[in-house]
Amino acid sequence: MDIERYINKLNTSKEAGNYRRLHNTQHNGFLIHENGKELLNLSSNDYLGLSSNRRLKEEFYAETDVKALTFSAVSSRLLSGNHEYYGLLEADLRNLYEVEAALVFNSGYHANIGILPALSSKRDLIVADKLVHASIIDGIRLSDAEMMRYHHCDTEHLRSILQQHREKYENVFIVTESIFSMDGDTVDLLELCALKKEFDAFLYLDEAHALGVRGTNGLGCAEEQACIADIDFIVGTFGKAFASLGAFVVCKDIFREYLINTQRSLIFSTALPPVNVAWTRFILNHIPDFDDLRVKIKEISDKLRTILIRKGYQTAGDSHIVPMICGSNESSVEMAELLRENGFFVLPVRYPTVPKGQARIRFSLNAAIPEDDYECLFDFLENGIE
Ligand SMILES: Cc1ncc(COP(=O)(O)O)c(C=O)c1O
Repeated sequence: MDIERYINKLNTSKEAGNYRRLHNTQHNGFLIHENGKELLNLSSNDYLGLSSNRRLKEEFYAETDVKALTFSAVSSRLLSGNHEYYGLLEADLRNLYEVEAALVFNSGYHANIGILPALSSKRDLIVADKLVHASIIDGIRLSDAEMMRYHHCDTEHLRSILQQHREKYENVFIVTESIFSMDGDTVDLLELCALKKEFDAFLYLDEAHALGVRGTNGLGCAEEQACIADIDFIVGTFGKAFASLGAFVVCKDIFREYLINTQRSLIFSTALPPVNVAWTRFILNHIPDFDDLRVKIKEISDKLRTILIRKGYQTAGDSHIVPMICGSNESSVEMAELLRENGFFVLPVRYPTVPKGQARIRFSLNAAIPEDDYECLFDFLENGIE
């Protein structure tokens, strides 16, 4: 056995400023405690601050007999784990999105590694945006289809790929996120819908970072851009703005049936706990009410971008995910340490997660953080760093 190989690989990661470690943290709402220090958590995906919303939790306990619920489904959905909360949650999703069908999964990762491999064959093509999330890439790798990538958000490049290759394949899947997890930019879905129609392709959209945060009812960018009905597969995740766990796809009934029969990450994994699915359903039914939080997070992110630009930093996007591009892996690590020393819990995002030379701090904003705390951050960025 060659253990040296692993030691060497870790050493190489350390030398490249790319070594990862788990942080030991305790949480108190939007505050995080690390090594006895209290920091503002600017690294969670709790975009609406719902994970620490006491009023919501109390309402949930008041209307749900939580003691009667179990903490495990102790079986896959295809065996005996398909408890009643799944049906209720899927019915609510169907009604809110006004679609034929919804199917709930254990996580966004399970959804993304399972749906595309189940639906595609070697006679098919998957064309994905260059920056789609690792879970989508893993799903494409598990599928038998051919894969091509188009330049990030470049519909002209996508068009040229489709013009050149569409005829050679039976089914073509265009795959994108709506808000990209590392750049925080938003896709023009109407252009993608027009292309998918022109080239008779399926459109697969991951709304992980938009669900709850965009659209009048918080249903995401497809709602905001009024094109839910034109998208074949909309995936949403509950582990971010919903402060829960799990994911879903909304689609036509035939695809739901097909996925239940073929999707390995659905079939061969223990179902979500009833207590968790009940909470997700409770949140889903309150999500349309949080417009004030959606407006607040937009205002704060616009202000943060303005300050970063004024300070000479490159940033990107237009959402509550705000990158502060530092350049090398090492410089992003140093900046993250400086921010943490000064009370702001942020983490560096480095190559290979982002392109070389584009290592960054990823500010992930939370609408529950008071404006005064954001003012401290703005003040530090303006006056506390060179
Ligand atoms: C775009 C995107 N899709 C899917 C996932 C995975 O979702 P989950 O955390 O529910 O597995 C993530 C996680 O960060 C993501 O950013």
